[in-house]
Amino acid sequence: MSIDCQKLYEGKAKILYTTEDPEILLTDFKDDATAFNAQKKGTIIDKGRMNCGISSKLFQTLELQGIKTHFIDNPTPNQMRVRAVKILPLEVVVRNIAAGSLCKQTGLELGTVLPQPLVEFYYKNDSLGDPLLTSDRLYLLNLATPEQVDTITHLALQINKLLQEIFRQCDIILVDFKLEFGVDSQQQILLADEISPDTCRLWDASETDPNRRVMDKDRFRKDLGNVEDAYQEVLQRILQTIEQQNQNQANY
Ligand code: TMP
Repeated sequence: MSIDCQKLYEGKAKILYTTEDPEILLTDFKDDATAFNAQKKGTIIDKGRMNCGISSKLFQTLELQGIKTHFIDNPTPNQMRVRAVKILPLEVVVRNIAAGSLCKQTGLELGTVLPQPLVEFYYKNDSLGDPLLTSDRLYLLNLATPEQVDTITHLALQINKLLQEIFRQCDIILVDFKLEFGVDSQQQILLADEISPDTCRLWDASETDPNRRVMDKDRFRKDLGNVEDAYQEVLQRILQTIEQQNQNQANY
């Protein structure tokens, strides 16, 4: 790592460094895993490399389909160079199937297919436990402008359609996921953070067993075992599927 790189911020799953270019930051993906607002801590061996690989491929694929992301390139397998953005303090969750906190808070049965995707905003604030926001609370706290909320909602739904299709081709069901957005120096909204088994619920479409089908961080949250194998399988399926698509396009 260059001597110009200084640690800017250390989060639960990633470390952010400055680079010699103020418009570019370096993200280092860690093997550390946390759940339930860091009440549960552990390590998922090689998670940094796997999540960086999965996120990078997904960001690149979304870019090709017109979504602006912060992704630039990978100097090493567990590092991502990204465009510097100011992260909006929002966790944007999109749900296609009821799971997790939606089931807990509404009583909907696990696995209920939602009639349309649900977009939810959570306040990205660890000390408050990332609470679910109402739109009045979001504006009360000035977390984003109405225009930004409109843009983000539209982007989140568009990204959901694109990701659902990518995962469908991987024989994986995209149950729900969390996105973060940032604003760059030209006030453009870019998709930021990561998209990985840490931030998505992914079910193996060929499995019906409620534990065996889980290919995401729920394996760690619920002590289901074989966490690394599940992440590796997601990475492999994504790489294979996207490679196959590129070959088909080249032959066309
Ligand atoms: P939830 O059902 O616990 O609200 O989670 C919804 C989705 O958001 C799920 O795919 C996991 C992801 N998520 C994060 O990425 N970070 C978080 O801190 C939480 C709570 C959920």
